[in-house]
Amino acid sequence: MAELQEVQITEEKPLLPGQTPEAAKEAELAARILLDQGQTHSVETPYGSVTFTVYGTPKPKRPAILTYHDVGLNYKSCFQPLFQFGDMQEIIQNFVRVHVDAPGMEEGAPVFPLGYQYPSLDQLADMIPCILQYLNFSTVIGVGVGAGAYILSRYALNHPDTVEGLVLINIDPNAKGWMDWAAHKLTGLTSSVSEMILGHLFSQEELSRNSELIQKYRNIITHAPNLENIELYWNSYNNRRDLNFERGGDITLKCPVMLVVECNSKLDPTQTSFLKMADSGGQPQLTQPGKLTEAFKYFLQGMGYMASSCMTRLSRSRTASLTSAASIDGNRSRSRTLSQSSESGTLPSGPPGHTMEVSC
Ligand code: BEZ
Repeated sequence: MAELQEVQITEEKPLLPGQTPEAAKEAELAARILLDQGQTHSVETPYGSVTFTVYGTPKPKRPAILTYHDVGLNYKSCFQPLFQFGDMQEIIQNFVRVHVDAPGMEEGAPVFPLGYQYPSLDQLADMIPCILQYLNFSTVIGVGVGAGAYILSRYALNHPDTVEGLVLINIDPNAKGWMDWAAHKLTGLTSSVSEMILGHLFSQEELSRNSELIQKYRNIITHAPNLENIELYWNSYNNRRDLNFERGGDITLKCPVMLVVECNSKLDPTQTSFLKMADSGGQPQLTQPGKLTEAFKYFLQGMGYMASSCMTRLSRSRTASLTSAASIDGNRSRSRTLSQSSESGTLPSGPPGHTMEVSC
């Protein structure tokens, strides 16, 4: 019987006259990425393959924006409303975006075979260097929600030099404690996985109001063809370790952080900017894209990106949306408030390493 042999095929590309191999590689990468207007790629990692979608072209000396979605979602259902929000275009046109799908969450993903060992959240974080290596990107600004925020934080703790900033939406940096486990197990006896995940994504108030958005996401999750895969990601989330952030200690995020909701007690408060937004619930990137866009703009400006002269429409149209629904936490005298800075027309251009907190 003929034996199958694995054959390595390498593509031969002639160099242009006078072109060094390095320049050829760069040109090839640029061409590949130029074509990547929402193009999906997969790379092999020590923990299995991971899929990601790239939008925009890399900008010299600028980090990529890298997103990681929450459980029950994929990059599109988690981030499309934010990244396609009108005012967001002015911001993201300055950055290439890499949207990671957790394994088995990409559109059309086959269901993993029974007994498949899904990566832990720490292992999911360890897949990220393979993505950056493939794209030849050296630094990122991470945007993560829930489990995705945890994964990006773990990545930032392990690779601080490659993370210029982090937007962490609804992160829970702690492992489940005893009581949480008991409550989780009890809920599991009476609720389906999809209901438990909906309870993780949205507040009880949002779920009982049952708006069109909730109905849409309930429908997406309940009828997901890859629900078994989603359950595996959910299990990894519930088995997460403590991130063990220590204020002033060794285990802390070294980059600027825009923190949406709690976790403030674990991070350095001396340079914290505060913005409270009313009623944005568990997924503010879906329900309040305008306010998040505005907060993100100030965050980037504080990091030295997006000179205010670039910000035409957004800069002029500011104040109403933030200040009307925003309440400032006056108790935190050491905190800087986003609203204060914006009302006076100046930018919260804090020193690098500051934390900006957005409570929803
Ligand atoms: C983006 O432009 O980055 C984007 C577009 C569609 C869905 C998600 C993100």
